[in-house]
Amino acid sequence: MSQIKLKVADIQQLTENIKSFELVSADSGHLPSWEAGSHIDIEIDGHMRRSYSLSNRPGDTERWVTAILREENGTGGSKFMHDNVAIGDELTIAEPPTNHFPLDEKADSHVLIGGGIGITPLLSMGYRLKDMGAECHLHYCTKSKEETAFYDEIVDVFGSAGVTFHHDGGDPSRGIKLDDVLGAQEDGQHLYLCGPGGLINAAREAASHWRDGTVHFELFASAKSEDEKAETTSGDQPFEVELKESGITFTVPADKSIIELLWANEVDVMYACEDGWCGNCKVGLISGKADHRDEFLDEADRENFIQVCVSRAMPGEKLVLDI
Ligand code: FES
Repeated sequence: MSQIKLKVADIQQLTENIKSFELVSADSGHLPSWEAGSHIDIEIDGHMRRSYSLSNRPGDTERWVTAILREENGTGGSKFMHDNVAIGDELTIAEPPTNHFPLDEKADSHVLIGGGIGITPLLSMGYRLKDMGAECHLHYCTKSKEETAFYDEIVDVFGSAGVTFHHDGGDPSRGIKLDDVLGAQEDGQHLYLCGPGGLINAAREAASHWRDGTVHFELFASAKSEDEKAETTSGDQPFEVELKESGITFTVPADKSIIELLWANEVDVMYACEDGWCGNCKVGLISGKADHRDEFLDEADRENFIQVCVSRAMPGEKLVLDI
């Protein structure tokens, strides 16, 4: 892993609960290049790592911009960034920007739907699509204009005819009409979704007739309710894990996750959400049938990978991991 030291060059209060952070290299050098849809994993308060998407023009190696929603009931990362980080502070990221949400640049046209803080990767995509001269339209869903982050920049990037703002006043039934927006897919058209789980699930449902491989999404939180999660974990059993590279074998107890046992065995893996949706803790799966509980991997990836923060083994199976 190659850590990168960043300095906070500017902070802007975009809405009541969203701040943007402009980050530059702490040693005044160039930052690594990056693509639209990328995120960085910021180390927070010495013991947490949180993923935040970049929103500015892709490939900008002078500055990165991200925006963060202060989540009152979150795990503390966003509150720390809002309440403790000031201009001039140094931040560390574990590695260069990673992209789990790339544009398909061969597509003929692009529809982007974002909700709330989900605008961040979509704005970087807008810059890229504008630079490519590609046909695109953004639908951005928020409660009100006051709660719309990057309003002027969005209009500037997408053009006033290239964006539709949907303000629902807090009542989703007054918001975007997904069946109208997604009812007919044009040839070569791709869809990108980012935002709360409810919006993404509803949009994926409305686009269920779109061609395979044309609907792309990135979650900013789990789309599962606490009840759904509790139902999945009831009746968990211990299982064996072998680490092919290091030769370590251990038993994962019923009340622990694979990642907790990896930490206990001093095996370092990337992580952020610890909730199965961010994709950071993806590890190669060499053999054994996994009980996949994440919201990140698609069916094809599940043959060869596992998210070790939430997924387990099917009953009686031993998992062999590629670490
Ligand atoms: S840490 Fe986010 S999916 Fe595992």
